[in-house]
Amino acid sequence: MPHIELLLTNPLPASEHSRDLEGFVVHKLWEAADPDALLAEVGARIRGVIANGPTRMDEALLSQLPELEIVANFGVGYDRIDVPAATRHGVVVTNTPSVLDDEVADLTLGLLLATVRKIPQADRYVRDGRWLQSAFPLSTSLRGRKVGILGLGNIGLAIARRLAGFEVEIAYHSRRRREGVAYEYCDSPSALAQAVDVLIVIVPATPETHHIVDADLLEKLGPNGILINVARGSVVDEAALIAALENGTILAAGLDVFEHEPVVPAALIAAENTVLLPHIGSASTHTRSAMSDLVIANICGWFRDGHAVTPVNEIA
Ligand code: 8YV
Repeated sequence: MPHIELLLTNPLPASEHSRDLEGFVVHKLWEAADPDALLAEVGARIRGVIANGPTRMDEALLSQLPELEIVANFGVGYDRIDVPAATRHGVVVTNTPSVLDDEVADLTLGLLLATVRKIPQADRYVRDGRWLQSAFPLSTSLRGRKVGILGLGNIGLAIARRLAGFEVEIAYHSRRRREGVAYEYCDSPSALAQAVDVLIVIVPATPETHHIVDADLLEKLGPNGILINVARGSVVDEAALIAALENGTILAAGLDVFEHEPVVPAALIAAENTVLLPHIGSASTHTRSAMSDLVIANICGWFRDGHAVTPVNEIA
């Protein structure tokens, strides 16, 4: 496939199929001293974009790429891509579903346990030599808790399956009730927060889910409540969360994502009742390589046979 030009917004983790991209001309946006100049020079020839990282694929960028056919997103969440605009431009958008479900679910359970049992705080306690003076204070427990999952998509289900092993009660809210699952369904986010004392958020970031976790929801979660966010920072009103953690409106939070990441508010960093991760849900070598494979399969599938493997939109 000579002469097909692609734009790569950030490095793609190595995978078994990395060599499949060798037949393309790949322009590396992150290496450009002047990204605007690179776009002005090659934009009219770009037929595929591999989107990884903060670059927003919006109307302004799409209109600089008149020959664009496909945007292959590295990640299951494609909130940085304006899909309606891409569809208007006749551009197929793909993501990386399924291959990261288990990894993100594993991390979620780790973050939940770390937050409930204060594992990072206990680690710091040992390293600081404080154990020599006294025992680490008792923590709260997962025992007897009821866990709510906000967003029972494939990752939400993988989280629920793992939680079942911890013998906790499970409830959920999703836009649609899921057929064939026995977990208790709550018909609104607010009813879910009221019913549980751990809330795990794993909804996609959309205009509808923006700040879905707000002051009111946190109030409903209550003073024994624990919030775990492994979705996107924008789904939680971070200012309301900081206030809720400071006032004792909720007990603690475990966060893998932030509203303005990689910037994390100083108040969350200073808080003793938070566990903070640098957006690592899917970030293992194994899973990032599987995500790369799927990105490459989408690009090659499209240019080889005109079929993307995991499209999220339909183009005419
Ligand atoms: C990645 C993710 O951090 O899949 C997602 O939606 O959030 C993660 O797997 C991200 O896509 C890397 O750019």
